[in-house]
Amino acid sequence: MKRVEQAKKILKENNQSKILKILENIDIEKQEELARDILKVDFEQIHRLYENRNGKNKRKDNIEPIKYIDKNKLNSKQRQEIEKIGEKIFRQNQYAVVTMAGGQGTRLGWKGPKGTFKLDVGENGKYIFEILANTLKKTTAKYGKEVYWYIMTSVENNDETINFFEKNEYFGYNKEKVKFFTQNVLPILDFEGNLLIDSSYKVKEASDGNGGVFIALKNSKMIEDMKSHNIKWVYVCGVDNIMANMTDEILLGLAIKNNVPSASKSVKKAYPEEKVGIFCKKNGKPAIIEYIDMDKKMIYAEDEDGELLYGESNIVGHLFNIETLEKMADYKFDYHCAIKKNSYLGENIKEVLPEEPNSLKFEAFIFDGFEYLDDMVILRVKREEEFAPIKNATGVDSPETAKEIYEKYYEV
Ligand code: UTP
Repeated sequence: MKRVEQAKKILKENNQSKILKILENIDIEKQEELARDILKVDFEQIHRLYENRNGKNKRKDNIEPIKYIDKNKLNSKQRQEIEKIGEKIFRQNQYAVVTMAGGQGTRLGWKGPKGTFKLDVGENGKYIFEILANTLKKTTAKYGKEVYWYIMTSVENNDETINFFEKNEYFGYNKEKVKFFTQNVLPILDFEGNLLIDSSYKVKEASDGNGGVFIALKNSKMIEDMKSHNIKWVYVCGVDNIMANMTDEILLGLAIKNNVPSASKSVKKAYPEEKVGIFCKKNGKPAIIEYIDMDKKMIYAEDEDGELLYGESNIVGHLFNIETLEKMADYKFDYHCAIKKNSYLGENIKEVLPEEPNSLKFEAFIFDGFEYLDDMVILRVKREEEFAPIKNATGVDSPETAKEIYEKYYEV
């Protein structure tokens, strides 16, 4: 059967009458192109995503507080002992960092990849990627070993990200140790479950969320690459925390000492109503609960020392041993659904630019993988030392607040 006829049949079978109309009303060349794209769509997955949107089939979870270790309450003997365990891995060069830089960064409003944003610090300003490279260079200097650095990009920003590193000569980082890999995409749907077509006659897609990191690492053969270098532990973090301490001997030492497959960093919630994800136990497993899912009782609950029971905020810094990282790629992640504004091709073959959010974008979250872990270490670190995210253009978690934290710490 010819490609276009095959695509029409599939669209009919999957109740995609809007797209069928578009396909029937464009010229033959474009039909071929669109048909090719349609044949790549996994409609079974589309139905599943749509049916489960907004956690429709969500079960009731049992949420409990989770234990954490406060890095700054360790005494010097404990610190030394734990650091020593972690240091061994760095000395043997068995550690890698994964920077997740596949997000769209819509809130910041920066046109390029977020890592190419220049923050007004120091004499001439510094790019986010430059700051991260400088942080890793310090570990290289300390151990005389270059940390392997894997950078996750998206289909949209991959070329621009690589070109940026090339142009800036990897900010002095050894190019051989830096690898880029691209995450998967998922189709965007309208509120009725129809695919959207963009103005270049392609099925509209977007990155599958930072939870896509596991499958992307596997499919791109980066796990194999890590194993070939005998890497044992991998720290996975977001691109937008310019204070990220990505090579923390204490975090690593604690994971090894406690014989757990994973460890994450937290900072103390700034105030009870802060809109952050919080570490907890969900059905007996480590988890993160989003602020919108917390009721008032949970938000204000305190322990006997007057500390918030649910007060450990997620800073998107997660350590995994290589076996766990590999296994996660085989697990099924539930997708969360965000409502976004997206332009699309109307049935009259004219582009529609909606004024209101009109579409569903599906994302997996990295921390949803925690449900497959029996236990993990949560390490509370100091916000002013390790957390300065750049999320919004102004106000909270913006370049302005990040600059303030960065300059205070580095006294530039
Ligand atoms: P955010 O949730 O802050 O999303 O991502 P974002 O796309 O960067 O920003 P907004 O929401 O559009 O403003 C947290 C981290 O996860 C990465 C981001 O790059 C950031 O480091 N991420 C997010 C990915 O790598 N891929 C994704 O699909 C989503």
